[in-house]
Amino acid sequence: MNLDKVRKSLPIYRIRNRLLEEIQKNPTLILLGETGSGKTTQIPQYIHESRPKLKGLIACTQPRRVAAITVAQRVAQETNTELGKTVGYNVRFEDCTSAETKIKYMTDGMLLREAISDPLLSRYSVIILDEVHERTIHTDVLLGIVKSAQQKRQNSFKLKVILMSATMDVDEFSNYFNKAPVLYLEGRQFKVDVFHSVQEQTDYIFSAIATVFQIHKTVPPNEDILVFMTGQEEIDSTVKTISELNKSNSKLAPMLVLPLYAALPSGKQLKVFEKAPNGFRKVIISTNIAETSITIKGIKYVIDTGMIKGKLYTPQNNLEMLKVHKISKSQAWQRTGRAGRESSGICYRLYTESEFEKMSLNTIPEILRSNLLSVALQLIALGITDLVNFDFISKPSTEALNSALNDLELLGAVKKNFQNENIVEENVNKKRIISYNYELTDIGRKMAYFPLDPKLSRCILTADKLGCVEEVLKIVSILSVDNVFHAQTNTSNKRDQAEAVRQKFVSADGDHITLLNVYKAFLANKSSASEWCSENFLDLKNLKLAVEINKQLKEICNRNSIKLSSSTNDSVKIRMALISGFFMNAAEYQKENEYKTITSRQIVQIHPSSVLFNSKPACVLFNELVKTNKTYMRDVSVISSSWLLETNPCYFKSKLKNLADNLNTYDLNNRIR
Ligand code: CDP
Ligand code: MG
Repeated sequence: MNLDKVRKSLPIYRIRNRLLEEIQKNPTLILLGETGSGKTTQIPQYIHESRPKLKGLIACTQPRRVAAITVAQRVAQETNTELGKTVGYNVRFEDCTSAETKIKYMTDGMLLREAISDPLLSRYSVIILDEVHERTIHTDVLLGIVKSAQQKRQNSFKLKVILMSATMDVDEFSNYFNKAPVLYLEGRQFKVDVFHSVQEQTDYIFSAIATVFQIHKTVPPNEDILVFMTGQEEIDSTVKTISELNKSNSKLAPMLVLPLYAALPSGKQLKVFEKAPNGFRKVIISTNIAETSITIKGIKYVIDTGMIKGKLYTPQNNLEMLKVHKISKSQAWQRTGRAGRESSGICYRLYTESEFEKMSLNTIPEILRSNLLSVALQLIALGITDLVNFDFISKPSTEALNSALNDLELLGAVKKNFQNENIVEENVNKKRIISYNYELTDIGRKMAYFPLDPKLSRCILTADKLGCVEEVLKIVSILSVDNVFHAQTNTSNKRDQAEAVRQKFVSADGDHITLLNVYKAFLANKSSASEWCSENFLDLKNLKLAVEINKQLKEICNRNSIKLSSSTNDSVKIRMALISGFFMNAAEYQKENEYKTITSRQIVQIHPSSVLFNSKPACVLFNELVKTNKTYMRDVSVISSSWLLETNPCYFKSKLKNLADNLNTYDLNNRIR
C-alpha cells in the first residue's frame, strides 16, 4: 500500500473535515483517541494541508525525544519531503529544522526553553501538546505557559491550542482551558482477555520470563509478545536471558528478542517496528514507552509486570530518587490495550486482581512527585516571579515549591524580593502563608542558559571561577548521556575482562574523575573510535553523543563570556566545582558499607557500578539516589567534609540550626518505650 492509502486508512481520516472545522471554531480543542489512530502523525499535516499559508509554525510536543524524532521521520516520508525542511524536529542538543519548516515536532522541554526568550511563543500559530495524559512536568508547566500566551494573544496574532490524549481522564484539561470542547475519536480496539496472577509474585522478572516461555511453547510463532518492564539494565539483561534460554532449547521456534527504552540508540529502536523473519517470534521488552507513545504492529500478547520506574520526591528531606513502583489502573488498561490493535489478544497481568484493585486510578502528575528546582528556575527566568500563585493545572505543594526556591537561593541563582510579599491564604490556624517574589541573580541568569539541571549549571559557573571549565564541561557532558560502560558482558569471563580493562581509567577520587579519564581517552583515540570502544567495553554511541553535547555546552559558554579555562590534573578543584552544585548530596561513612546523607540523615550505600564500591571513603558526594531493595548513590566522588563547609557555609549553618531545633523537641521517653 502506498503511504497516501495508509494515511487514508487511519481511523482519524474519517473525521478529518469535522476536526478541521472544530479547530477553526475553537481557540482550544481536546482530542481523545486510542493509540495508533493517527493523532500525532496526521493532525499537524491536516492543519498544514488546509492552511498552507499559515503565518506561524505548527508545533507538536512529545514527552520523549525518540517519539519526536521517529514521528518527524515518518511525517517527512508521508509528505515526501526531506527531513528538516517542511517537517522537522527539535530535541535537546539536536535541532533538525530550517527556515522552511512548517511542522515542528519537539520535546515539551524544548518548547519550554523557547518560552524563556519568547513567553508569548510568537513563532507559533498552532501548538499541539501531545500525550498530555502522561502529565510530565514539562507538559504540565507548558499548559500554564501556553494558556497565558493564548490569553495575551487574544487580539492580535491568535494562538490555537490542541491537547491530545490517549486516556479518558480529560475533564481536568477541559476545565483548565475554560471548558474547551472534547472530541472523541473511536479507535479500532479488539477484545483483550485479561488474566491476573492467582498469587502475588515476588520476582516479577522471573515471572515475566516464565510467562514468555509458556506462550512461546503453546502458540504459533507469528504472534508477537510485548513485555512491560521498568528500565534499561533490567531490560537488557532480560533480553539476554530470554535469547540464551531459547537458543539452548532446540525444540523451540527461534526468537527475535528486542529491547525498547528511551535511551536506546534510535537505529536499534526502529528494529522493533520491523517484522521478524519467517518462523521467528518477536518478543519486545519495553519500558512504559510502548504504553502510548509508540505503536508496534503484530502484538497479540501483552505481559504486564505492573511496575514502572519513576521519580519520587519528598520535600521533607528534599530528596528525589528513581524508584521502581506500581503503575496506576489507567496505565494497566493502556498496557492491556496494546494487545488488541489488529485482532483480539491476551494480556497477562503479573499481579493479582486484588493488587490491581489497590492501584491508584490515575497516574500522579510528575510535577507532584519531583524536585522542582529546574522548573522553578525556568519559570523565574520566564518572568514568573511568584511561583506559589502561578496557575498550575495541578499545583505542587507550597512546601515543595518553597523547598525548590530555597535551594535555588542556596545555589545563588535567585534572590527574594522582600518588598513584595503576597499573602496566599490564611489557613485554619489563622496562620498566614506568605509567598515572595523572586528574581534571578547574575549567576541564575547564566544558569538558566544551560539546558541542564541547575545543580550541573552551577558546577560549570563555579568552574569558571576556579579555572577548570573544560574539565567540568566534559564531566557534565558524559553525565548527560546514558551509561558509557557497556552492560553487554553477559558471561562472567567477559565481565572480568571488562573490569580489568576499566581499571586503566579508574581514579581513586571516584566516578567523576574516572568519567573524565574515559572522555579524554576517547578523544585521544578518535581516529579509531569504533575499535577502541569495543576493545574497552565502552559505548561508542553514547560517547559520541557526549562529545556533541560538549560542543553545544561550549557554544553556550562562548555566548555568555564563560572562558574555557583548564586545569588538567587538579582533581581537587574539579571536585570543589562539583560540590558547589551538589552540596546537598553528600554522605558520611557509618559502618558496614553504610553511609548517611549529611542533611537528610538517610541510610544509603554506594552503587555496585561505582568505582568506589569496594572502598569506604569517609565522605562522598553523589549525583543521584536510586532505590531498589536498598537506596544507592550513583556517580560518587570522594570529598572532604571541610570542603562542604568551605563551599556553602550558609547551608550547613542553617541545617545545623534545624538539627538543634529538632533535638530540643525530641521526646526521648516516647521513643524509648
Ligand atoms: O498518535 P497516535 O497514537 O494516535 O497515532 P500515530 O502515532 O499518528 O500513528 C498512526 C500510524 O502511523 C500508526 O498506526 C503506525 O502504523 C504509523 N506510524 C509509523 O509507521 N511509524 C511511526 N514512526 C509513527 C507512526
Ligand atoms: Mg501519538
